[in-house]
Amino acid sequence: MADFDAIDRHLQDNRQSHLAQLFDLLRIPSISADPTMKSSMTEAANWVASHFRSIGLSVELITGDGPPLVYASSPPVPGAPVVLVYGHYDVQPCDPLNLWTTPPFEPEVRSGNIYARGSTDDKGQMLTHVQSVSAWAATGQKLPLQVKFLIEGEEENGSTVLEHTLPTLHEKLACDVIVISDSSQYGPGQPAITYGLRGLAYFELRVQGPKADLHSGSFGGAVTNPALALARILTEIKTPDGRIQLPGFYDSVKPLAESERAMWAGLGFSDAQFTKQLGVPALTGEEGFTTLERRWARPTFDVHGLLGGYQGEGGKTIIPAWAGAKISFRLVPDQTPKSVGEQLRAFIATHTPPGVTVEVIDLHGGEGVVVDPNSRFMKGACQAVEEGFGKSPVLIREGGSIPIVAQMVQALNCDVLLLGWGLDDDGAHSPNEKFCLEDYYRGIRASTRLWQYLA
Ligand code: BES
Ligand code: MN
Ligand code: MN
Repeated sequence: MADFDAIDRHLQDNRQSHLAQLFDLLRIPSISADPTMKSSMTEAANWVASHFRSIGLSVELITGDGPPLVYASSPPVPGAPVVLVYGHYDVQPCDPLNLWTTPPFEPEVRSGNIYARGSTDDKGQMLTHVQSVSAWAATGQKLPLQVKFLIEGEEENGSTVLEHTLPTLHEKLACDVIVISDSSQYGPGQPAITYGLRGLAYFELRVQGPKADLHSGSFGGAVTNPALALARILTEIKTPDGRIQLPGFYDSVKPLAESERAMWAGLGFSDAQFTKQLGVPALTGEEGFTTLERRWARPTFDVHGLLGGYQGEGGKTIIPAWAGAKISFRLVPDQTPKSVGEQLRAFIATHTPPGVTVEVIDLHGGEGVVVDPNSRFMKGACQAVEEGFGKSPVLIREGGSIPIVAQMVQALNCDVLLLGWGLDDDGAHSPNEKFCLEDYYRGIRASTRLWQYLA
């Protein structure tokens, strides 16, 4: 057994430097979706790589058509399991900028939270495992198992490089379990282990009408308005009571297990509190399911953005030549982005109003995952989380997606542990993203235990 007193003393003595290092990474504006940020992507990858080097790991940058993958590993330990930590150094765009209290890439601690883009998603969470490996090394202790790291720069934007290189990386990434901290606790003071994530199928719709914008007085009434046609299509995809209308959409959706429903019912989730947290007048969703069931284990459809038509000040009377929408379906296990894409195309073909054409463009996606809550690593993970956070974790699923995970699990034939240190109200993808400072330190502490208990 490791000397955890020494490790804890080291963590205590290094709170400042661990925070300063996270701040350094947070200052790099690594927005993967923004083509003008290419050099920041490389800078962030290099920062992660050199940090790995400084704690004694062997490091490799794996390049492709996009931001590099950073791979690092500690020495093999014969007879012990191999852990692969997956995380991402890229972040989401920051708009609208004027809603940030302090600029997104100028990290600051305010009332116990680290504010910056990427603080919780995923730089802060990912770094906990790096700091923990460094704590073992700094206290002169050999890790009881081999830890490999794969930190990518495109999780928020389709994981193209990883998807393309994965088939060539099977040997390098071979492991018994993938550890990911890129999700949330159940709530403040209640850590969780997540055993399921939803999948995602993301598309853009393009509705094309006349070859140019038309004067709506001269032509209105005689041609189909693409924006209105788009609106019709979108509202036909999902009924107001939350059922998706694509034929065959629910065919592969398994009913929820009664034991799961009972377990979640026991979590004491409050609809009233949630309504207040979100600032909405009411919650809505699929009939017959609770809020947690709707968010964690039922598929859904959402519109992320609408394009086209006049967006400027004042009025402009046109029939726009085209309109578009960014849309996605959240999927549950056994639904695939491919089959949902086929279902969507078939639906659009039969729901396109006369007078326009509709194009469906595939963006990114990935399948959902459900992990066996009784896997051989679960007990050790629970113990580690309990020691790091001072409370034993509950088992939850979550509605977000880490698109490449299902493919990695399939390619590497391994288990997954989703150990989220974030909170639902961290504002991931939103203005004023934060990560609770103490959760950063608790995550590091939990991670130092993890290597021991997984071994
Ligand atoms: N860290 C999130 C995934 C997540 C969010 C897991 C909430 C659990 C709870 C990840 O960075 C993310 O945002 N994924 C995207 C995928 C998309 C951009 C391809 C998502 O879920 O929308
Ligand atoms: Mn993430
Ligand atoms: Mn994200």
